[in-house]
Amino acid sequence: MEREPDAAPVAGAPHPGDPAGPRRSRVELVTDRLRMRAWRAGDRAPFAAMNADPRVMRHIGSGPLDAVGSDGLRSRLRSEWSRAGHGLWALERRDDGAFAGFCGLTAVPFGTRGTAGALEVGWRLPRAQWGHGFATEAARAALDVAWSALGVASVVALVHPDNARSLAVGERLGMRVVGTTLHPPTGWRVLVLRADRPDDVDASFQHDLPNVRADPPPRRGSPHEPG
Ligand SMILES: CC(C)(COP(=O)(O)OP(=O)(O)OC[C@H]1O[C@@H](n2cnc3c(N)ncnc32)[C@H](O)[C@@H]1OP(=O)(O)O)[C@@H](O)C(=O)NCCC(=O)NCCS
Repeated sequence: MEREPDAAPVAGAPHPGDPAGPRRSRVELVTDRLRMRAWRAGDRAPFAAMNADPRVMRHIGSGPLDAVGSDGLRSRLRSEWSRAGHGLWALERRDDGAFAGFCGLTAVPFGTRGTAGALEVGWRLPRAQWGHGFATEAARAALDVAWSALGVASVVALVHPDNARSLAVGERLGMRVVGTTLHPPTGWRVLVLRADRPDDVDASFQHDLPNVRADPPPRRGSPHEPG
């Protein structure tokens, strides 16, 4: 696997199971149309453009970010990989190499019913990349990592009730609404969507990503601000 100079240090070995599923190497997943990879210096500008777009940020608690805010978020995304051994991958289209946003697994940003022991799945794509199925494709691969490599029992998404596109992604993934919770920074009441590890998943090879904590504690602030 190639390691970029600024790649987050994620431990892991090739996925020992499911040869038909996403291929996994140390920091990269490869799906049909996407590369889910470590963050690179070249992502900075398209990442900032995405985070500054009011259409993209409409249901994100922070609202649109300026360049400083975007850089700060990018640092936090990268440090979660170092700290926890999982995080949000940068998405890159395999056909043209375009930056396609992010998707991945983060610590649940604040404790709430139904999220104990869970990770949060998050997704954000530049407007030009909506409507291709990329978010769902990436999130499926992320859930596979959650179940098989990280061994978590459930994954949640915290979604603003007006965020129809995000709710549709959750529905396509088979997530179900299990409640609502207050998003402390904004006071928004957001929906809690949850998926549980399928019974037929073998979670016995958690050594894939050995530096992950099995039960990440809730912490303040979310890298991707639920919305
Ligand atoms: C939420 C978000 C990631 C969803 O993106 P999306 O592109 O709508 O979602 P998907 O990847 O599942 O794509 C589904 C669409 O692609 C279409 N599509 C086209 N080709 C496809 C293909 N080959 N395979 C699957 N779907 C395809 C589907 O028909 C569907 O279209 P529709 O929206 O017209 O019904 C995006 O809207 C976004 O980034 N929003 C802003 C950030 C945000 O709110 N994040 C979530 C916070 S909780």
